[in-house]
Amino acid sequence: MPSGCPRSGRKPHERRGLSNMIRSVVRGFGAALPKRVMTNRDMEDVVDTSDEWIVQRTGIRQRYIAGEGETTSSLGEAAARAALDRAGLTPADIDLIICATSTPDNTFPATAVNIQSRLGMHHGFAFDVQAVCTGFVYAVTTADAYIRGGLAKRVLVIGAETFSRILDWNDRTTCVLFGDGAGAIVLEAAEGEGTTADRGVLTAHLRSDGSHKEKLYVDGGPSTTGTVGKLRMEGREVFKYAVGMITDVIQAAFDATGTTPDDLDWLVPHQANRRIIDGSAKKLHIAPEKVVVTVDLHGNTSAASIPLALATAAGDGRIKEGDLVMLEAMGGGFTWGAALLRW
Ligand code: ACO
Repeated sequence: MPSGCPRSGRKPHERRGLSNMIRSVVRGFGAALPKRVMTNRDMEDVVDTSDEWIVQRTGIRQRYIAGEGETTSSLGEAAARAALDRAGLTPADIDLIICATSTPDNTFPATAVNIQSRLGMHHGFAFDVQAVCTGFVYAVTTADAYIRGGLAKRVLVIGAETFSRILDWNDRTTCVLFGDGAGAIVLEAAEGEGTTADRGVLTAHLRSDGSHKEKLYVDGGPSTTGTVGKLRMEGREVFKYAVGMITDVIQAAFDATGTTPDDLDWLVPHQANRRIIDGSAKKLHIAPEKVVVTVDLHGNTSAASIPLALATAAGDGRIKEGDLVMLEAMGGGFTWGAALLRW
C-alpha cells in the first residue's frame, strides 16, 4: 500500500476537506430513440404472446425498434449531441468518449470511434466498454477513473444499443423483452471537498463472475462462429440471481460512503424487469416513489437503459442538482455494479 499521495506527499486521510479532490460531475444529459414504436399488441402479430402476459411478467408496454439507417452509432451520436447541447458544450470541449454497447455497428472499429467521427472530432480518444446491461455503470466508473487520474477533463459517456438486431424473433421468451435506444451524459472534472456533500461520482462498485455465462449470452461471435449470433437467455435462472446481486452491490455503495436509503433521492436501476426493480428496492427499504421506472416505455435497452432513465427523470425535473442518485445494473456474464453520485 502506498503510504502517501505521490504528487503532494500527504497521507491519503490528510486530503479530506482540503478542497483538492477531483470529482466527476454531470454537466449534461441526453437521449435518443428510434422512430418506430412497437407495442405489446404489435408483438402479438410476431410471436404467440399477449399484452397481459408481457405487462404482468415484466412491466413492459412498448419498446422502440431501429429501422433502416438507424444504428447504434447513429443513436449514440444523437444522444451525445443532446447531452452536449444541454451542457452548453461542443465536441471540441470533449477529450474522451466511452461508449457502452454490446451491439456495435461493426466488430471493429469501436462504436465510440464511429461516434467520434460522426461528431467531427479528430482529437482526443474513444473506446467501447462491453459489460452487457451493466455497461453504463462500467463506463461511468471508467470515465471517473480517467478524470480522477488526470487523463481526461471532459468525458462523453454513452450507452447505445440495437438489441433488436441480435434477437431471435421466433423466440417469444426473449424477443418481447428488449428494445433499442441510446443515452449519454457529459462528466466534467471539478474540485470537491472529499465528502458526500460533493457533486459528482462518490463511489462505484463493479463485479463480474464468468461462470454464469450460459444463462445469458449471444450464440455467435468473430472467433467462434464467424457470425453475429442471437441472444439466448434462461430467464428464470437470471431472475434467481438478479435481486441478490443488485442489492449486494448497492449496499456496498452505501457502506463505502456511510449513506443510507433514507439519504437517497433517486434509485435509477437498469430497466430489465419491473419485478426485479421492485424486489430490489423493497429488500433495501428504498421507497417506491424514489425509484425511476422507464421499462414500460423502453423495454430492456441493455447499456442504454440507465442513461435513458436518467435523461427521462432529469428532463422532466424529477432529478435536480444536488440530488443523491444510485445507479445499478446486472447483466450477461454475469456482470453487475452500482455507482452513487450527487447530481
Ligand atoms: N408470452 C407468453 N407466454 C410466454 C412468453 C411470452 N412472451 N414467454 C414465455 N412464456 C411462457 C413459457 O413458455 C411458460 O409456459 P409453460 O408454463 O407452459 O411452460 C410460461 O410462460 C412461464 O415461463 P417462465 O419462463 O417461467 O416465466 P417467468 O415468470 O420466469 O417470466 C421472464 C419470464 C419475464 C423472462 C422472467 O424470468 C425474467 O424477467 N427473468 C429475468 C430476465 C431478465 O431480466 N433479463 C435481463 C437481465 S440481464 C440483461 O438485462 C441483459
